[in-house]
Amino acid sequence: MKKIGVFGTGMVGNAIATKLVQLGYEVMMGSRTPDNEKALAWAKQQGNNASTGTFASAAAFGDIVFNCTQGDVSLEVMKQAGNENLRNKILIDVSNPLLFEPGKRPALMPGLCNTNSLGESIQQFLPDTHVVKTLNIVNCEVMVNASKCGGDATMLLAGNNTTAKASVTELLQQFGWNDIIDMGDITHARSSEMMLPVWLSVYGATKKGFVAFKMVR
Ligand SMILES: NC(=O)c1ccc[n+]([C@@H]2O[C@H](COP(=O)([O-])OP(=O)(O)OC[C@H]3O[C@@H](n4cnc5c(N)ncnc54)[C@H](OP(=O)(O)O)[C@@H]3O)[C@@H](O)[C@H]2O)c1
Repeated sequence: MKKIGVFGTGMVGNAIATKLVQLGYEVMMGSRTPDNEKALAWAKQQGNNASTGTFASAAAFGDIVFNCTQGDVSLEVMKQAGNENLRNKILIDVSNPLLFEPGKRPALMPGLCNTNSLGESIQQFLPDTHVVKTLNIVNCEVMVNASKCGGDATMLLAGNNTTAKASVTELLQQFGWNDIIDMGDITHARSSEMMLPVWLSVYGATKKGFVAFKMVR
């Protein structure tokens, strides 16, 4: 059975880690400290296949690792996780480089959009890790249950390593995604991260969180 590390104790880390346990994986939820209350409460609910630890412990534990941390701290999380612990592993990056400022609409962080992205920055920081960007374009409940958006939506992925992308595609299928487009190398993380402002505007207009994109072709 594959072991999976999940960085993040927020709603996304929780949704992904829970689904992975349901699918039969052994999962370690990582955070800054080994005794994070949210992580401990999650593990208690999930049973024997769930454990908790620091970002570094979760990185060392997983054959595959999910990054479900706040976009503006994701690079700091990678530092704490440690390059060596992630060497030759797949890191699935679902984070978004969003900047929240009072009185302003959320925006993509300067320097991490258009000609760069968070996915690429993580790949640059972890040159020996296979970073795959995906799932960042939908709500976390839709991430792990594609049909929750009410249709056969499209999921996008980007990454440099073909074998890693094939493994991630299998996981996406286990999450219910049937229509998956491989956009190409990790520079295409720019495109999916730049879809966030669209998602946020649609959410603002419809107040519906379980929405997703369909690439009709
Ligand atoms: N909400 C959604 O449905 C959705 C959909 C698509 C994409 N996303 C993206 O998914 C990511 C996770 O979102 P979320 O709302 O679940 O969680 P979040 O609140 O954005 O992030 C939680 C994680 O960030 C870590 N963190 C916070 N400050 C830190 C710091 N200074 N240094 C190191 N780590 C720090 C926390 O560590 P501790 O555990 O130690 O507290 C925690 O594990 C975000 O990038 C978001 O944009 C969210």
